[in-house]
Order: sequence, then C-alpha cells, then structure tokens
Amino acid sequence: DYLRDEKLTQETRDLISSLPSEKGWLVSQIYQFQGYWHTEALLQGILTCQKHFEAKDSDIILVTNPKSGTTWLKSLVFALINRHKFPVSSGNHPLLVTNPHLLVPFLEGVYYESPDFDFSSLPFPRLMNTHMSHLCLPDTVKSSSCKIVYCCRNPKDMFVSLWHFGKKLATQETADYPIEKAVEAFCQGKFIGGPFWDHVLEYWYASLENPNKVLFVTYEELKKQTEVEVKRIGEFIGCGFTAEEEVSEIVKLCSFESLSSLEVNRQGKLPNGIETNAFFRKGEVGGWRDTLSESLADVIDRTTEEKFGGIGNLT
Ligand code: A3P
Repeated sequence: DYLRDEKLTQETRDLISSLPSEKGWLVSQIYQFQGYWHTEALLQGILTCQKHFEAKDSDIILVTNPKSGTTWLKSLVFALINRHKFPVSSGNHPLLVTNPHLLVPFLEGVYYESPDFDFSSLPFPRLMNTHMSHLCLPDTVKSSSCKIVYCCRNPKDMFVSLWHFGKKLATQETADYPIEKAVEAFCQGKFIGGPFWDHVLEYWYASLENPNKVLFVTYEELKKQTEVEVKRIGEFIGCGFTAEEEVSEIVKLCSFESLSSLEVNRQGKLPNGIETNAFFRKGEVGGWRDTLSESLADVIDRTTEEKFGGIGNLT
C-alpha cells in the first residue's frame, strides 16, 4: 500500500525533510516536489523512476491525473496493441480474467514496491502508465521517440470520483472530512498528484508542441465517440485498424458494463490490497451532480476558469 513509508531510502528521507508538507485530504501527510503533491511512497517511486527508468522508442506511456479514466485507457490500449496476439473474438482475452492494472504496470507504484523491477522484461511494445507531471517524467521519456497518451477528465467528475474512492479506501482518514474542505484542498492542488489543472496544461502544451509525441484525449470524448477516439489512439501509436469489426469488439470488451461485471473486477484484490471493484463506480459524464452542491461546483468552476482562462474549453 502506498501509504506506508517503510521502503523509503535515506536519500528520500533527507529530501522529504526539506520539502513543503501538508496534512492532506485522504492521507495523513503529503509533500510538494517539483510543483506537485505526493505521498512519501509515491515520491519514493517517482525518484527511483527518474533515476532508473530507460525509455525505448517503442514504449507507450499512458498518463492521467488519478480518477480520470486510467483503468479504461489501460484496457483499451492493452487490447489495441495485443489484438493479433489476443483476438477479442477468441473469447479468452486476458482482460476477461485479469484486472487492467495487473496488465499495465504503474511506473511509480512498481518502483516503490520493487525498486529493482526489470522493466526490460516486459513484452514488446512496452505499455506502462504514470500519474507523473510532464516536468517530472524521466529524461529518456522526453528524449526518446516513445509515445505518450494523456487522458484528461472534467475536474468536477474527477474530484467526485476521488472523493468516493477515498471514502472506500481510506475510511478512517476521510470519515470526518467535510466535502467543503476537500474541495478547497482540490482547488489549491493539495491532494495526491495535484494540482489537477497544471498537470493537464503541461500535457496540453506538450501535445501542441509535439503532436507526434503526445496525444491528448478526454474522458468525455471517449464516452461520446469511443470508436473514433480508439482509432485515433491506434493511429497515433502506430497500429491503425484494418477491420471495423475489431474496433467495435475492443470497445465492447472495455466498456464499463463489460469490465465492471467481470468476476475479477467485482471480487478481486490488487497486490497492494486495493479491491478491484474500487476502480468501477458509475463511469458517467456529469455524475458529479449527485455529490456536489451547486455552490461547491461553482468553486471548482471558478478555479478552472482562472487556470484554463484564455485557452478555451479544454474539458
Ligand atoms: P467514477 O468514480 O466517476 O465512476 P481511474 O481508472 O483513473 O482510477 O478512474 C476511475 C473512474 O473511471 C471511475 O469513475 C470509474 O467508474 C471510471 N471507469 C472505470 N472503468 C471504466 C470504463 N471501462 N469505462 C468508463 N469509465 C470507467
């Protein structure tokens, strides 16, 4: 679990003692490093990743803010790049029996749990994910020709998704935490991986600057026209489709309804203890309405306007 600190190196402990820290929403303490807030464990994972990860030109790296569609994107891209090895129509696809998080490694999570993990042993092309900001990415990710697919989600839905995820996973820490305070922490960027808007903007600008390197997609567009977006992702990572049928089969396999009803995603547990069903809640656009009052929604909207002002309606 990423909340414990027993795997910290002395170097990380020394660094942590010099970083700004806050009592966080969801976790007892978070630290600000290179502009973003992290738990000790994920910070350790990021530092090890920055030091040791060697990107290859053929790598595909999926990037998200937490609760922005990571699980969905992982399953779609896994099915996409393996569609010849594991045809969806065969009826025994790995996604039917394995949670997507076990098929696509989470860089800083793996580096925290197993600092010596050998990423070169992953099958080609390597598919991985991270929540790291663009600034934090290991140098070779930026200097190689590897591909980055970034998925962004409407901040109100992202907040609400994280709010419920926290309630489920960190019952004690969140029990008496008022939602007004959580919204405030969210808007100040003081939560795991925050600030949300800076993260999105870094990748938005990177995608404009280098459209062959960074593809920017949104959860909302993925929902609205999944097949169109999956084809766009396929072309971007260099595995365009020949048969229409394949696209719709992948989309169906990875739909919320399909994945969330599988035994492995209803009853399973990840090695870090998180129950797999925590990654499947409602899977809707605009679902924030049942959790956020209008006034709290306004607080988030105002921050979005402040941060995104001038670059149009990104989300
Ligand atoms: P909600 O809490 O709004 O339902 P992440 O994967 O980044 O942790 O994000 C989790 C969010 O994505 C949750 O949102 C979850 O329900 C939703 N989700 C998971 N699988 C999905 C899928 N196959 N299609 C659409 N949304 C999905």
